[in-house]
Amino acid sequence: MSIEQFIYKLPKCEQHVHLEGTLTPSLRYRCALRNNVLIPGVSSLDQLESERYPSNYDYEEGQDGSDYLREFLANYYAAMDVLVTEQDFFDLATEYFEKARSMNVKYAEIFFDPQAHTSRGISFDVVMNGLIKARDVEDKRSDGVRVQYILCFLRDMSSDSAAETLQLGLKYKDQIVAVGLDSDERGHPPQKFEQVFIDARKAGFRITAHCDVDQEETHNNIHYVATKLGGPRSDAPDIAKSYVDGDIIPAYRAGADRIDHGLNAADLSELLTTIKNANLGLTLCPMGYSKHLGPERVFSKLDTLWKAGIPITLNSDDPAYMCRWKQQVVVDVQKYTGWSLDEIAQVERNAISMAWTDLEFKTKFR
Ligand code: ADE
Ligand code: ZN
Repeated sequence: MSIEQFIYKLPKCEQHVHLEGTLTPSLRYRCALRNNVLIPGVSSLDQLESERYPSNYDYEEGQDGSDYLREFLANYYAAMDVLVTEQDFFDLATEYFEKARSMNVKYAEIFFDPQAHTSRGISFDVVMNGLIKARDVEDKRSDGVRVQYILCFLRDMSSDSAAETLQLGLKYKDQIVAVGLDSDERGHPPQKFEQVFIDARKAGFRITAHCDVDQEETHNNIHYVATKLGGPRSDAPDIAKSYVDGDIIPAYRAGADRIDHGLNAADLSELLTTIKNANLGLTLCPMGYSKHLGPERVFSKLDTLWKAGIPITLNSDDPAYMCRWKQQVVVDVQKYTGWSLDEIAQVERNAISMAWTDLEFKTKFR
């Protein structure tokens, strides 16, 4: 069996994928046509396909990580203009589920960015109805992907806006497993959302936050997310019930349940210790960083995290933009790291250990 086949056959999880980052040029074009939305400067699908990976995502020596993120986000938000109706959100989710199934991804925790839509006048209910209906259809399939949704706050919007979005999310508490924090980190540290995350934890959501690579205050942000975000827990006894021995159990502590990215933890031994002591996992997207920041820097940090025994998972982040979907991410990471098949399987076991789902499903998965 080839390495590709081994990786394909491995039941896989994805825990760091933005639904809006799975918007392919073909779906974007279809939604634009049916909603009469103009895509500036684009007159054909071929043209959109050929322009989908702007060269500014490519690695250049000496570029700043924050600049990359900003440039990417400008394209990412602009593309969302075509998402208007419940059907659009249904199709977006359904296309990702189909893609996930085709890669033998069995479980996915998927971010979505409601403020990127409500700020354009699309109602929260339209977004949620599309997502929920798509998942209901998927749940009925015998080979369906098990899906959970993570509501992300946009950190470059105000904390009041995040608080309002949390209130909207409460109506869908049973449909949303966690809240996260994404978008442009420069000038928007996690402390800005202190109270929103305390309220979210009290309401029973799991908590995670992006600590993107090479950002301003990156080490302080990782430290804050690991040790403070969400405030003290009152939910620990409940949470412990969904884990078994050997699982990555969030300790009885303040701080997030997980960190999205967090690659720069590799730079400081104190941070590695903090993350280990907090029993936190990192959802990494190495091929995305590698495209922006160059493989050498990325894989030496990945190696440091791995050798320190930090549980990491491998993910695609925004696969329609970053060229690689989950299967290809794992194949490429194996090539760069030279990890054995046992090590690759261990990464997927980490992923299910970190999953925010019931024990029965996790046990079947192993
Ligand atoms: N939103 C979508 N992708 C993101 C990323 N990689 N970092 C921050 N926000 C995002
Ligand atoms: Zn992300």
